[in-house]
Amino acid sequence: MSENSVTITDNRNGSQAEFEILNPVVGNSCIDVRQLNAKLGLFTYDPGFQATASCKSDITYIDGDEGILRYRGYPIEQLAEQSNYLETSYLLMYGELPTESQYREFEHSIKHHTIVHEALMQFINGFNNNAHPMAMMVGVVGALSAFYHDSLDISDPQHRDLSARRLLAKVPTIAALCYRHASGKPPVYPRNKLGYIENLLHMMFSFPSEDYLVSPIAARAMELIFVLHADHEQNASTSTVRLSSSSGANPYACIAAGIASLWGPAHGGANEAVIRMLEEISNPSEIPGYVKRAKDKDDDYRLMGFGHRIYKNHDPRATIIRKACNDLLDELEGINQPMFEIAKQLERIALEDDYFVERNLYPNVDFYSGIILKALDMPLNMFTVVFAMARTAGWISQWGEMMTDNEQRIGRPRQLYMGDELRDYVDIRQR
Ligand code: SDX
Repeated sequence: MSENSVTITDNRNGSQAEFEILNPVVGNSCIDVRQLNAKLGLFTYDPGFQATASCKSDITYIDGDEGILRYRGYPIEQLAEQSNYLETSYLLMYGELPTESQYREFEHSIKHHTIVHEALMQFINGFNNNAHPMAMMVGVVGALSAFYHDSLDISDPQHRDLSARRLLAKVPTIAALCYRHASGKPPVYPRNKLGYIENLLHMMFSFPSEDYLVSPIAARAMELIFVLHADHEQNASTSTVRLSSSSGANPYACIAAGIASLWGPAHGGANEAVIRMLEEISNPSEIPGYVKRAKDKDDDYRLMGFGHRIYKNHDPRATIIRKACNDLLDELEGINQPMFEIAKQLERIALEDDYFVERNLYPNVDFYSGIILKALDMPLNMFTVVFAMARTAGWISQWGEMMTDNEQRIGRPRQLYMGDELRDYVDIRQR
């Protein structure tokens, strides 16, 4: 029996088998249960995958107890302080920080893929004006594969890289076009002389009738939000991208699946849900009632922007963005919306109340990013779209890693069947 193993005994019949332990560079070791069914006729049961590793990955490391988040080994605090989104995307995609010439090539390449096929405009115009931009994003990003037959061979590394760069370049353009359509404004084309984030803000908020100067405050805050949201290990939407790509689906379809998964209020939809919650509370005197509901086992109401599956300590992104949020509210004089006062009171309660402290329900990144986006006058239905744009770097990096992982096979979980065992068909006249 090797030391680096576990032995599982089925006490029902005494059968026993040994399973290797796989050891990481850092973090939890894993039991390799791939032979569990063959050796013991057993499956594992883990809804929500709380203790299940779906892959090996070199990209992002999280330690929920210590509040650690690193992209390719670099602490998120350093990247947030010293890097930018495009450089962070390069790091996630290729595993190393770019040299100056690599960065210039990458930036030039991304800038020259920002335009989308003009026929996509007809696709976007087909939506009602009241369509939620996330609904449009799912449809339009998925439709990109209809325009790029030249790069759909996922076995070809050059096709994979071109698709990844096209997605990184075009998702902001598509997001801005969706917003412009939903708000009845004319489309604005990308401007290559602008930086990645500045270009997004220009495409969203400028008007053809006058010059538009991107606010440095808004650009700085958005750059930080993008860097902090770029990747986050095997979260629900990234796992959706991986599972979709395990069948060999094209990258545009896989990223569209990730966008769909991110939309849920328990995941990327939380930033929009935070603001809707603060609007609903509307008055500080109402806070105790909502906190009471959040604690009530018989009420499925939850405080949006609080808690996290992995971080049972502070979300390091929340610590970083909380400071930026407070600085921004100070910088934007006169923005004394009552909502921000409610947010501060809610934050204080969550940090002091036993129910929240015992369950490690700290404000997460979405709590503060929602407030920043609101302070920047970002339309509420674009909040999760911002998250989707930022997470595109992580999704395409995780997708690329999966495509080169020889251990990966089509994802096909098993189940614990609890239905009727066997019964005969009954004619409808006898039922
Ligand atoms: C993101 O996975 C990622 O990495 C995601 C993400 C990323 O970058 O990709 O970090 C982005 O999705 C951040 C999370 C955004 N979601 C929200 O803010 C929505 C509100 N939060 C919750 O829905 C919840 O906290 C989750 C979904 C985030 C985590 O759910 P878990 O890990 O399944 O926790 P749980 O449901 O088991 O809750 C544990 C306890 C329960 O109470 P008890 O059964 O122990 O009595 O905490 C309670 C829950 O009822 N609880 C909350 C709560 N979140 C959990 N109670 C009140 N308000 C909340 N927000």
